Amino acid sequence: MKNKHLLIVDDEASTRESLRMVFEKDYAVSLATSAAEARQIVARSNIDLVLLDIIMPDVDGITFLHELHTEYPDLPVVMISAASSVKRVVEAMKEGAWDYVTKPFDVAELRHIVSRALENSRLRRKLHELQCEVAEEFPVDRIVGNAPLFAQALQVVRKAASTDSTILIIGESGTGKELIARLVHRLSPRRDEPFVPVHCGAIPEQLMESELFGYEKGAFTGADRRKPGRFDMAGSGTIFFDEISETPHSAQVKLLRVLQEREFVRVGGSEVVRTDARIVAATAQNLEKLVEQGRFRRDLFYRLSVVPVRLPPLRNRREDIPLLAQYFLNYFGRKVGSRLSSIDRDAMRLLLRYDWPGNIRELRNLIERMAVLHRDQDMLQPEFLPEEFHVQNLFAPLHAGTFTLEEAVNDFERHLVIDALKKAGGVQTRAAELLGTTRRILKYRIEKLNIQPQDFRPTVSSPQKERP
Ligand SMILES: Nc1ncnc2c1ncn2[C@@H]1O[C@H](COP(=O)(O)OP(=O)(O)OP(=O)(O)O)[C@@H](O)[C@H]1O
Ligand SMILES: [Mg+2]
Repeated sequence: MKNKHLLIVDDEASTRESLRMVFEKDYAVSLATSAAEARQIVARSNIDLVLLDIIMPDVDGITFLHELHTEYPDLPVVMISAASSVKRVVEAMKEGAWDYVTKPFDVAELRHIVSRALENSRLRRKLHELQCEVAEEFPVDRIVGNAPLFAQALQVVRKAASTDSTILIIGESGTGKELIARLVHRLSPRRDEPFVPVHCGAIPEQLMESELFGYEKGAFTGADRRKPGRFDMAGSGTIFFDEISETPHSAQVKLLRVLQEREFVRVGGSEVVRTDARIVAATAQNLEKLVEQGRFRRDLFYRLSVVPVRLPPLRNRREDIPLLAQYFLNYFGRKVGSRLSSIDRDAMRLLLRYDWPGNIRELRNLIERMAVLHRDQDMLQPEFLPEEFHVQNLFAPLHAGTFTLEEAVNDFERHLVIDALKKAGGVQTRAAELLGTTRRILKYRIEKLNIQPQDFRPTVSSPQKERP
């Protein structure tokens, strides 16, 4: 894949042509005969490296180097010099040139210098990304779970990742959309290029366009220099539109154009800039519904959902709860130096039965809290869990594989018996009547299920006493 783009700037046709011949097999190559021309090409395309003649007809090579270095500090520039201008080379290196080559060229050396410069800027970008990840303090590479619904989604991701197709990740909050978007990038041939997230809801409408596409110097008051946008930053990497449903209408139009034409115009600019970035978007909202309500553009929706990936909510993949809980327990145990390392069986049953409205993020946060608060315990006990886990929810769907039949039936029975005892104010004969059974059988059940008086006695003061 010729995914790197070189620009050769030299006023001498023979030099341009010989350099083109050296590089065109491995890279995309553009040629410029003057600084003015070079300036336009750099602005329009995502150039990865410039080979720049030190002697130029319009501007002095070193002056132009200075200009490039100020506007694009991460763009490596290799100077081309005649044997007679060695002194100028020293100047150029001081101005931030990556390296230099002297005419006549040694082809092997030339290739080596260029590939090292490209490798270096790739590593610098990678380093920057890793630093951001470390700052996030959470490994993004571990993806836990093998429930069928989740495995299906992963299957789609694996197949689509290596292509250039746009992917739309759909899932409730906390189901792992961003994690999957990063996985797409990591499994794609673009893995060494940048991954650039855009939180569509977090950018004010009036700034959206300049955030995405950048602006030209003088585009508005205060724009004293050109600023690259997210598409520039992404280069031929991946750009991730999170909460795409929040994109303001005006920006939806602009995005559609990028998706259709693969090009954009900077704010205050007139040049059409090409982009090679891969697009991944995520939404917690039902976009189809928003389309029907006229709140999201239908054409944009179709362009985005080329490959839809649906992430199931945690309550529909309960079999993954033990795996995830143990994974987070190990992780946070190590991180906060907690002894807590296993989960009691009854506590696990409460985790399995809970509905998890905040999905995996909620589970992760809970386990982190447990690891911190009970750092001197070995096992997570049911009573460590907050109130909402103890509220009996008869209607929580039960999944084979998460409870044995006996556990599920006992649970069900226990719930009914306690409810009857509560309604009967603790009087067993009345509770038995409510359940359509005898007092003797009820007594037997109470013992078998180990129901204690505190299970059915009201925890707040009795309503009678509260009445005036
Ligand atoms: N399968 C998984 N294995 C391990 N960790 C996971 C998994 N899925 C999600 N997580 C973790 O759960 C948390 C929430 O995931 P993520 O931020 O990707 O969700 P999201 O869908 O983007 O949420 P939101 O809609 O709130 O932005 C993260 O800390 C992530 O690392
Ligand atoms: Mg997210």
